[in-house]
Amino acid sequence: MISKIEELRQQIKSLQAANEQELEALRIKFLSKKGEIAALMNDFRSVPADMKREVGMKINALKQEATDHINQLRASLATKEDDSLDTLDLTRTPYPAELGTRHPLTIVRNRIIDIFSRMGFTLADGPEVEDDWHVYGSMNFADDHPARDMQDTFYVQGGPSMLLRSHTSSVQSRVMEVTEPPIRVICPGRVYRNEAISARAHCFFHQVEGLYVDEKVTFTDLKQVLLTFARELFGADTEIRLRPSYFPFTEPSAEMDVSCQLCHGEGCSMCKGTGWLEILGCGMVHPRVLELNGIDSEKYTGFAFGMGIERIANLLYRVRDLRMFSENDVRFLDEFQAAY
Ligand code: PHE
Repeated sequence: MISKIEELRQQIKSLQAANEQELEALRIKFLSKKGEIAALMNDFRSVPADMKREVGMKINALKQEATDHINQLRASLATKEDDSLDTLDLTRTPYPAELGTRHPLTIVRNRIIDIFSRMGFTLADGPEVEDDWHVYGSMNFADDHPARDMQDTFYVQGGPSMLLRSHTSSVQSRVMEVTEPPIRVICPGRVYRNEAISARAHCFFHQVEGLYVDEKVTFTDLKQVLLTFARELFGADTEIRLRPSYFPFTEPSAEMDVSCQLCHGEGCSMCKGTGWLEILGCGMVHPRVLELNGIDSEKYTGFAFGMGIERIANLLYRVRDLRMFSENDVRFLDEFQAAY
């Protein structure tokens, strides 16, 4: 028995472990309930009475030695792992830095601003809570025009004729009433309409309004500016088409289509087989609107246009559900990376 103890002592003294697994295997071999030392203790019963004291002490000492040795091995393994710190590059970012992304509507709005800025347009804005005059009256809407109806317009309680603007054309009026032409502005902003929220409509959305007033501004100027815009935004091979339309504040008025990006005019599901996509309303500023806003309509002419940013973002990114733009689901927002 004594020699068996001595043999185990020598074995234990020389134990080495390269990693946690090896160390654990050693611990199990020697110190677990079914290990070598436990086996010695089981045999302890057969030791003659006069030797029990000496053998007992030796077994206890052996157990202590084994425990100490294994703890020591564990400690040196831990410092070995710490040594790996030396090879760490502490100047490196610890994980890919997560930057936010721009909202798709911001990206599209900034692109639109950028294009018109290069054509000499400056930015203008106005309040979202507006009075009836700037939204409708000064824009030549008749008193009984259906757009003023409660069904379209959100009226603000308390204020006489205060409402949430239903289009950014109110900013045309805000600019004209304080500016002597030449005027060349674009006005991005949020607008509100009383619509049931669905994949295709929302009670608020965003528009960009454009206004150009000067001497001798013609429909040709309007068409060239919009063609340039369309080609900058959708690509150099884009064609435009103007269809007669009606707005109280422009005369003549038109709706502008761009050739379908997907099928290039062939007809597909995006353009519903027509080859064209409608993107904005436009026209020559109605002389009455110039007069209502203090501008001499004998001397000056102008054009205006207005487009929905969501609509254009849908065409550029094929977002199927309009609600995605206002839900701020980061899985959606993360899809958009842009320099704008
Ligand atoms: N205000 C119009 C709309 O909301 C768009 C428009 C603006 C049309 C300027 C013509 C000129 O639909």
